Amino acid sequence: MMKNGEKQIFREIPGSNREEKLIKLTINGRLYRLRFGEDVEPWEMPSYDVYPWDTLAYTLREKLGLTGTKVACNSGACGSCTVLMNGTPILSCSTLTVDCDGKEIITIEGLADPATGELHPLQKAFIENHGVQCGFCVPGMILSAKALLDKNPNPTENDIKEGLSGNLCRCGNYNLILKSIMEAAKIINKKG
Ligand code: FES
Ligand code: FES
Repeated sequence: MMKNGEKQIFREIPGSNREEKLIKLTINGRLYRLRFGEDVEPWEMPSYDVYPWDTLAYTLREKLGLTGTKVACNSGACGSCTVLMNGTPILSCSTLTVDCDGKEIITIEGLADPATGELHPLQKAFIENHGVQCGFCVPGMILSAKALLDKNPNPTENDIKEGLSGNLCRCGNYNLILKSIMEAAKIINKKG
């Protein structure tokens, strides 16, 4: 039975003396309750949504269909898989889903205006300033940039370089990515 404010919810599995844990994630404003298979092997209970070894990137992409989050190195080295957790950029390939219980996650799918579908100024600026080549690094770049601009709406070029130092672009499109973020900051400040 769910109680207000609980982060984890347990209930008995019928016919078993085991309890089932549900993990709650709010992703892009929508609440997901995911069944967590603890102390089981995948072949025992294949219907669980999350296993103890699942990364957030895996859950987002493979279980929830949120494939905007990209996985490149899958080892915490490139920043492609960056999402926001409670407003802070994290590497979803190196974060276990079970450790995100009760957290608010924003992925690239959650940046557009939910009412109008209008793209976020960062998304528009990347398009208009050719900040995208192959595009694989871009969701992570944009989410790191969003966290930076939320804290520092008037960044210098050096602030941006430092803020995005964990995000690698294999296409080497750094100059236009920098320009895109500078332009987005101008637009956001004009609106504000
Ligand atoms: S895919 Fe996560 S850091 Fe590279
Ligand atoms: S645009 Fe291709 S990896 Fe950055």
